[in-house]
Amino acid sequence: NLIPVIMSGGVGSRLWPVSRKTHPKPFMPLPDGENLIRKTFIRAVSLDDVVEVLTVTNDELFFKTEDEYLRAECAQVDLSFILEPFGRNTAAAVAVAALQVSETYGLDAQMLVLAADHLIRDQSAFTEAVRRARVLAAEGWLVTFGIRPEYPETGFGYIESDGGLPLGGGFKVHRFVEKPDLATAQSYMSAGNYYWNSGMFCFRVGTLLEELRIHASEVLEAVRATMDCSRLSETDGHRCLRLDAKNFAKVPDISIDYALMERSSRVATVPCNIGWSDIGSWSAMSELTPMDACGNRCEGEVVVHEARNNYVQSAGRLTALVGVEDLVVVDTPDAILIAHKDKVQDVKHIVSQLKRSG
Ligand code: GDD
Ligand code: MG
Repeated sequence: NLIPVIMSGGVGSRLWPVSRKTHPKPFMPLPDGENLIRKTFIRAVSLDDVVEVLTVTNDELFFKTEDEYLRAECAQVDLSFILEPFGRNTAAAVAVAALQVSETYGLDAQMLVLAADHLIRDQSAFTEAVRRARVLAAEGWLVTFGIRPEYPETGFGYIESDGGLPLGGGFKVHRFVEKPDLATAQSYMSAGNYYWNSGMFCFRVGTLLEELRIHASEVLEAVRATMDCSRLSETDGHRCLRLDAKNFAKVPDISIDYALMERSSRVATVPCNIGWSDIGSWSAMSELTPMDACGNRCEGEVVVHEARNNYVQSAGRLTALVGVEDLVVVDTPDAILIAHKDKVQDVKHIVSQLKRSG
């Protein structure tokens, strides 16, 4: 059995004003009319041996998520949910999913952890990568999926291969470094033997629980205590585990990358070329829209005159650009973003400012 686990919890503050707390990044409409959560779900159910898709998300997003899944019309799999009162980061989300899966399917079941907000353009290459990962997972590895880095991104994890110990379809990770600073990321780029961690993981549930026990026992124990006090119920025919807030608040707030991938010696990587993007900013988002002869990418009703290399997303009303370059303009009914292309990573600061001012 393979249980895909979809983790959905980030806010996507760099994609403000379209991505909001109650309408986060996985639900953002894409130019093709789809959204990332539904694409992720379809990607998951298309794999071999999948009987159930488990989603870990905030309680408030349950109906929204369920709606998207039902619209995908993949009736043959069971849907189950672990519903969080608040986010406690990805180590908690993975641990709670692993305990749940082990109860139902036993320690030999395999989990494939997926982020709800990534784009993968090449499904068949992805399916093949998962096949290779499952072979390594069965041998007791925590398998990551390595992507050839394109630029020194500081928001990703980096995986170092030392050339040694090739495993069928992958290699043993020499070192895993989560979110290095820019100088370090640059040195990894020039070294040439590093991959980006794509944020997806495949493992045997027993291996994961054992490694958590060794390297992150506080997370595992606090999650166990939470599960003991949590309510299992049926909503719309789906199994839902609603996590007890009082105990869940005591789980350390740490990502699976820091808590486990940096520490474990059983991490392996399957290098893959799957058309992956984490759609981390408006710049990545803009690449989904075709470019005109002047380098502009426009969604919605947009008119341009002597304007170059801009990205414009206009919802509902006409946007006109005259004589400007390298701008990102995102218009929504209650907020408009105008940013320089080189500064799109800083959009998240607007969200923190808004939060501070209530
Ligand atoms: N349920 C739940 N609860 N999901 C969560 C939570 C939480 O508290 N926190 C994050 N998630 C979900 C996010 O929605 C996303 O789908 C996934 O888990 C990863 O979390 P991010 O917050 O987006 O992680 P990141 O982008 O900083 O880093 C991870 O992904 C990179 C690739 O995009 C790491 O794995 C990096 O190593 C990796 O390079
Ligand atoms: Mg992310």
